[in-house]
Amino acid sequence: MDSSKGNPHGEERKPKQPIIKLWDYHHDYREKYIDYHVNSLNTKLFAPSQMYRGISQPIYKRYSNSPNIKVSNDYNVDSEFENTMMQRRSDTTWENKTLIDNDLLSSFCRLVFFGNALGKRNYPSGGQMYHVNVYFVFNPMHSNILVDGHLNVGYLDFLSEEIIFINKISWEKVIDSYYPVLPVEKASMCIILSVNLYEIDKKYKDLSYKLVQQEVGHIGQNIQLAAGYYGIGSVPLQGYYDIKLSRLISDDEMVLSTYLLG
Ligand SMILES: Cc1cc2nc3c(=O)[nH]c(=O)nc-3n(C[C@H](O)[C@H](O)[C@H](O)COP(=O)(O)O)c2cc1C
Repeated sequence: MDSSKGNPHGEERKPKQPIIKLWDYHHDYREKYIDYHVNSLNTKLFAPSQMYRGISQPIYKRYSNSPNIKVSNDYNVDSEFENTMMQRRSDTTWENKTLIDNDLLSSFCRLVFFGNALGKRNYPSGGQMYHVNVYFVFNPMHSNILVDGHLNVGYLDFLSEEIIFINKISWEKVIDSYYPVLPVEKASMCIILSVNLYEIDKKYKDLSYKLVQQEVGHIGQNIQLAAGYYGIGSVPLQGYYDIKLSRLISDDEMVLSTYLLG
């Protein structure tokens, strides 16, 4: 029997119409931002540094006929704050002029991350959610961080205000997680800023992905300013292989950004 033409009762069967919803507010936002994140991951196979091409900066002046205020070169050289601001720079030589030890690390964390307002941090976070996690990996050759068992991977715990040491990995693994174009072997420590992509969207849904990227940028500026203040070279280093680096810190987090210091 050809069931498309009728049924046992002899009635004509109408073809099934798709249900068209005129107003569909369902966005699948989580899949979108997670897909986007996964699509932008680097792997050793697909992201050799030479695929990126240099472009020159524009040299023309925009809005040349409009009134303007010339910004002067002056700043207060006697102000530590102004000097710190003026000296923020990326440095990929990692000359290790300042040896990082437990005391320096503690002061650095107070300035960059904790601040002194209970329940807050020393950088702005969208909706006070503070979704970005902070890990440190220390290079045993160029830092003097002393903890039991020679562990060198630390998780920054904002509740207890401690660096909790969770693992011991060789610096070669860190080197191997970056594109082989910079002398990562000379750095004294690596700060990894990461997020659990499946945790971030409880409050701000699809907006959360943007917010964590912005939070990372704020943290990065703090890192570079404090590093400069302590005489430590620093660089934001995005030339890494995502999966390799994520595996060094946690099973359920993805790396958003890294800083190498030394
Ligand atoms: C998001 C981001 C990613 C970066 N990644 C790299 C990198 O992979 N390799 C590198 O040599 N520099 C990297 N840098 C550093 C830039 O090259 C540096 O900030 C830029 O040259 C401007 O210099 P300045 O930071 O001293 O002002 C990165 C900077 C940012 C903000």
